[in-house]
Amino acid sequence: MKATAVAPANIAFIKYWGKVDDALRLPLNSSISMNLSGCTTTTTVEFSPSYQEDSVLGLQKEEADRVIGHLDRLRAKAQTTRLAKVVTKNSFPKGAGVASSASGFAALTVAASAALGLSLSEKELSIFARLGSGSACRSVPDGFVEWVKGNDSQNSYARSLYHEDYWDLRDIILVTSAGQKKTGSTEGMDKVRTSSFFGKRLRDIPDRIKEVKRALVKKDIERLGVVMEEDCINMHAVAMTQKPPIFYWNGLTMEIIRSVYEWRAEGLPVYFTIDAGPNVHLICEAKDEQAVVAKVRQAFSELTLIINRPERGARIV
Ligand code: PMV
Repeated sequence: MKATAVAPANIAFIKYWGKVDDALRLPLNSSISMNLSGCTTTTTVEFSPSYQEDSVLGLQKEEADRVIGHLDRLRAKAQTTRLAKVVTKNSFPKGAGVASSASGFAALTVAASAALGLSLSEKELSIFARLGSGSACRSVPDGFVEWVKGNDSQNSYARSLYHEDYWDLRDIILVTSAGQKKTGSTEGMDKVRTSSFFGKRLRDIPDRIKEVKRALVKKDIERLGVVMEEDCINMHAVAMTQKPPIFYWNGLTMEIIRSVYEWRAEGLPVYFTIDAGPNVHLICEAKDEQAVVAKVRQAFSELTLIINRPERGARIV
């Protein structure tokens, strides 16, 4: 009744921002992401008849309650009331816009379902992970992943478009702040409809998804980069125009964006994207990793970098 799973965080090329159904975490739009090798969560879950309460080590009260809520979903599926001990460890700073909830709920889902003896398909695991945290459903399948929005709980899940070794990309994360962000993504996207730009965002996304898929087929970094940056800026423009507005960027975020434009003008094919936090993800091909890192070290020597390759999905270890 004990299992350990590791799951990667993921970076969205086309972002999930807004839900049709809050409780079921059904998204208003489909999204596409890449799993990150350098940002993983390892979670061990043990169910035992001798436990008197659920214990969640390594997390704060609010997060622990969310974990217990998720265990309840899996216990209901396994028709058991056994209590659990959960130990979780991240390889990266929490709550700073690196998607710790994605890797966290993907690892928890895979570990807990194995510990309960449930043999769930990848689709079922992705659905359960989604109920814990939307973007977590994308950390279950391998490599480059699409979450097709669907219209009910059973058809809203993620599947792999390509395996992790399909395209040797890098995501170099520049950690501009490792602190806890003020507005988490759940709360942030609750008010998405209060932005007058949101309707336009939803109408534009299907074309952006098609463009990302064309870029992936051709392994065309410029094509991917242009549409990925557009979607990132668009998501943040929506967040900034919600009521109340949310500004996830800090001064450094903006300085890095400007530098990326300069580096590109000098001929370096590197593109940025930013999740619900101030950290910047620089996407480039493996052949340009050294050049990008050199530029970053020169201009932002004080920043911590996390270098990621495309990664497999969540798995038992
Ligand atoms: O599922 P959450 O609550 O981690 O929301 C993720 C939101 C973004 O990171 C901003 C976008 C995305 O698709 O990952």
